[in-house]
Amino acid sequence: MSLIDAYGRRINYLRLSVTDRCNLRCSYCMPAKGVELLPQDRVLSYEELLRVATQAVAAGIEKIRVTGGEPLVRKGIIPFLERLARIPGLEELVLTTNGTLLKGMARGLKDAGVQRLNISLDSLDPATFARITRGGDLKAALAGIEAAERAGFPPHKINVVLMRGVNDHEILDFVRLTLERPYAVRFIEYMPTCQTTDWRSLCIPGSEVLERIAERFLIEKLERNERSGPAKNFRVQGAVGSLGVITPMTGHFCDACNRLRVTASGTAKGCLLAGKGVDLRPLLASGDDALLRDGIRSIVLDKPGRHRFDEKSGAAAFVMSGVGG
Ligand code: GTP
Ligand code: 5AD
Ligand code: SF4
Repeated sequence: MSLIDAYGRRINYLRLSVTDRCNLRCSYCMPAKGVELLPQDRVLSYEELLRVATQAVAAGIEKIRVTGGEPLVRKGIIPFLERLARIPGLEELVLTTNGTLLKGMARGLKDAGVQRLNISLDSLDPATFARITRGGDLKAALAGIEAAERAGFPPHKINVVLMRGVNDHEILDFVRLTLERPYAVRFIEYMPTCQTTDWRSLCIPGSEVLERIAERFLIEKLERNERSGPAKNFRVQGAVGSLGVITPMTGHFCDACNRLRVTASGTAKGCLLAGKGVDLRPLLASGDDALLRDGIRSIVLDKPGRHRFDEKSGAAAFVMSGVGG
């Protein structure tokens, strides 16, 4: 079974958010004050999430990325992942995390069947890290990253959301990290989500990032492969890791998009920046899995050809922590 959208794209990748909560509060992800968290009874139960995932796989999804908020703050996440990993037909189960809780959980995640981790790490400097995350502890994140390596995960993808004047002075430090460590470091253009006022000055085009790196290092472009995702990837000559840019703002990658998203409250979305989405809860409540499958198919058919982010107003009215990146 496969899911083909109206533009001929094969949709085989589901990003499943299991919570809108997080133990950090990154400035680009959550507003400083007045974050409205979902009431507990609005968050899909694990049983419901498993039904959504099972029907999505039955409809043609092959890879699931579990996201949040921070997925590891949800109680019972490891037994849930174990069940998710056993869905017949699911080929890949991966997870995006801020890493700070990995120290105690990496082994359990590996044993549960999680195959790879993408880790959000926006600074290698404790003070800047604390500033971006509004109080987070860099040491915990780094300890988590190491614990996950020891637990046997393949080299992590490290996501760095760059913000001019905040962490862009660390671009070369992250590049140096790839000389010693096998990570795929990806610099992500800041997307205007909840913080809409000064996004233009914060967002650094991927092309500028590459120019700044090329002034100091000899870099070579890497061929695209199935692990590239939305990134354009490069390697500093002789480095063990790679670096990449993800350019949702200056060079969208919608033509090759293979994703669907389901938020923690059960809204399915064909695009990160799409408006309302489709509420799966009535379909779940019907108890009829065929209806749920049809609902998932209908979102694929409605998936927009490209994101409709309005450059002029800069107003993408959503809080990232509820959608999962
Ligand atoms: P894999 O290919 O599974 O490793 O995933 P990925 O690289 O897409 O996942 P990750 O969670 O690391 O996402 C990296 C970042 O790219 C996201 O946080 C977003 O900032 C951005 N991104 C990923 N997918 C999309 C998308 O569909 N649209 C837009 N606009 N941005 C995206
Ligand atoms: N712009 C760009 N990337 C973002 N992420 C969260 N919010 C934003 C934003 N406003 C990224 C984080 C994380 C991923 C899931 O989403 O870096 O790695
Ligand atoms: Fe938490 Fe990730 Fe959002 Fe930061 S970006 S507040 S770590 S969910």
